[in-house]
Amino acid sequence: MTSSPVLRVDNLVVEYLTDGYSVRPLDGFSMDAFAGELVALLGPSGSGKTTLLSVLSGMVPASSGTVTMGDIDVLGLQGRELEAFRRTTIGIVFQGFNLLPSLTARENVAAPLLLAGCGRGEAFRRADELLDEVGILDRAGHRPQNLSGGQQQRVAVARGLIGNPELLIADEPTANLDLISAEAVVGLLRRLRDSGRTIVISTHDARLLPAADRIVDMSPAHEMPDKAAAVVELTPGQVLFHQSDASDFVYEIEHGTLAVVRELANGGEEILTTLEPGNYVGELGPLLGFPRSATVRATTAARLQPLTINEFKTRRDSEMKATHGSHPR
Ligand SMILES: Nc1ncnc2c1ncn2[C@@H]1O[C@H](COP(=O)(O)OP(=O)(O)O)[C@@H](O)[C@H]1O
Ligand SMILES: [Mg+2]
Repeated sequence: MTSSPVLRVDNLVVEYLTDGYSVRPLDGFSMDAFAGELVALLGPSGSGKTTLLSVLSGMVPASSGTVTMGDIDVLGLQGRELEAFRRTTIGIVFQGFNLLPSLTARENVAAPLLLAGCGRGEAFRRADELLDEVGILDRAGHRPQNLSGGQQQRVAVARGLIGNPELLIADEPTANLDLISAEAVVGLLRRLRDSGRTIVISTHDARLLPAADRIVDMSPAHEMPDKAAAVVELTPGQVLFHQSDASDFVYEIEHGTLAVVRELANGGEEILTTLEPGNYVGELGPLLGFPRSATVRATTAARLQPLTINEFKTRRDSEMKATHGSHPR
């Protein structure tokens, strides 16, 4: 493709501060999306999908990096410009439909236009057009409780399209839908992108992937090594890994002691625990596919054996068998 991307995300970093410590679900994340593409953000729960979609729609601020749509600097938008961007440039389909239960399908779809001061006649005419486009005009007068999950999702998609956006983003659009409804929603998203719109969806549902034009893997697990590495020697005070680094190995401590330290947002730190020979360190990140949740530092000279996650699991399983075997019941 020779055209320039509709959406360009470059080196995005998002950091949340909770209870004094920081989580960095996006750390140097980059992606592009072109006109007429259906892009799937694929990753397990916690990999930053909702965070990314919230940044794209200007609802969550970024710590650094750039997001551009056409010639709009999304992270720089404020006030009225930001409102206008959300109303007309981007359409959002929130996770779990997010429809107002007291409003009919038509009223839910028309709501953003009514809120923006559009007359009822015009807003309902436009809502009906979109309900027709998503294939449920015959349900326009129904409230959400009288619609199936798949039908509610179509209403939510129609509402996302009400400002005629260039880019439609949908957070887990097939979550909680049975296979038939999920396929219908995917079919709808493909038709929408055929008409030149760019669609970005998040999912951990592999059923959706064949329909995507581009898959952006947000899973941190794919970087994990599958080959053993040489023994690591640390001098006192030397850091093994830092909090929010990508996780790779689990380490078995052969010699020396290590401190597990949480870095606080105010620049301070809190020592969580101290580990000795025979302990493992750093197993949580690789097991769950998450970044390191703490920093680990040698407090004495130390020697560590790196284990791949599979080596670690095999070893743990045989240790558990050995432990249970020695306690006959
Ligand atoms: N508002 C928030 N405050 C603090 N931490 C958050 C917030 N939102 C998300 N997180 C954390 O950021 C990480 C990514 O979350 P999220 O973007 O919801 O991932 P996903 O949608 O892929 O499941 C998780 O560790 C989550 O706990
Ligand atoms: Mg999410």
